[in-house]
Amino acid sequence: MNRYQDQAVAVTGAVQGLARAMAERFAAEGATVALADREGEAVAKAAEALGANSRADAVDVSSSAAVEAWIADLDRTYGRIDALVGNAGIIRDNRAEDISDDDWQAVLDVNISGAFYGARAVLPVMRRRNYDRILSFSSMSWRGNFGQANYVAAKAGVVGLTRALALETARQGITVNAIAPGLIETPMLASINDRARDKLTAKIAMRHTGDPTNIAEAAAFLCSPTARYITGVVLDVDGGIGIGSSIR
Ligand SMILES: NC(=O)c1ccc[n+]([C@@H]2O[C@H](COP(=O)([O-])OP(=O)(O)OC[C@H]3O[C@@H](n4cnc5c(N)ncnc54)[C@H](O)[C@@H]3O)[C@@H](O)[C@H]2O)c1
Repeated sequence: MNRYQDQAVAVTGAVQGLARAMAERFAAEGATVALADREGEAVAKAAEALGANSRADAVDVSSSAAVEAWIADLDRTYGRIDALVGNAGIIRDNRAEDISDDDWQAVLDVNISGAFYGARAVLPVMRRRNYDRILSFSSMSWRGNFGQANYVAAKAGVVGLTRALALETARQGITVNAIAPGLIETPMLASINDRARDKLTAKIAMRHTGDPTNIAEAAAFLCSPTARYITGVVLDVDGGIGIGSSIR
């Protein structure tokens, strides 16, 4: 398939994990891919590995000024941004009473403010064309998860943001959706301990974790022209963990 021929796709949090798989998929289907990450050197290497039709920028998504400057530069360079994938995310897990102000604020700044700043900056570019896609990253955790009050609040915020933006953009042919991944094998998942990981895997209806390419497939569909009548949706890509208990 070549659904992204002549398109410019922008991805945040783009050094590793889900973003790497998505960037490879968009590039394989013909897109020029703009990668942004707070880790400047690492994102430059990621773009180099991706190939000629890519660029790298050091951008901290929790800075509205940095995000606005990045989007403005992409607009100047490409004259269009067909899809913005707001993927950057962090966790700082703890029981609520042990979450410091810093860990509360940092998780909200990256996961929800980052998604908002990207969407707010890109909308004027997208409204010029009566087309375009915004895809944000929620999590299966948005419904509630022990020890993640900050992350849950942020990822539930992404659901609300997605639905509100979808209403404000639908008449311009812009779609705004989110993916809620389950347990996917990335460096983020590697940071949880083996005991927690085994307990969580036992709750997945399919009884195994996911691969970043599972998310890339969903993203490549939702951001494609084919998905033009889908907006305001939060797509669970989670092996069934979000359905409910599968313990027999
Ligand atoms: N992996 C999973 O199982 C899983 C599950 C649910 C949701 N998610 C969500 O999917 C997204 C990607 O997850 P992942 O597993 O690939 O994560 P990851 O930790 O492997 O990668 C996250 C990337 O975001 C970058 N980043 C962090 N803070 C940033 C900032 N302020 N500005 C710019 N870049 C920043 C990091 O440098 C890193 O490259 C995140 O939003 C995450 O919350 C992941």
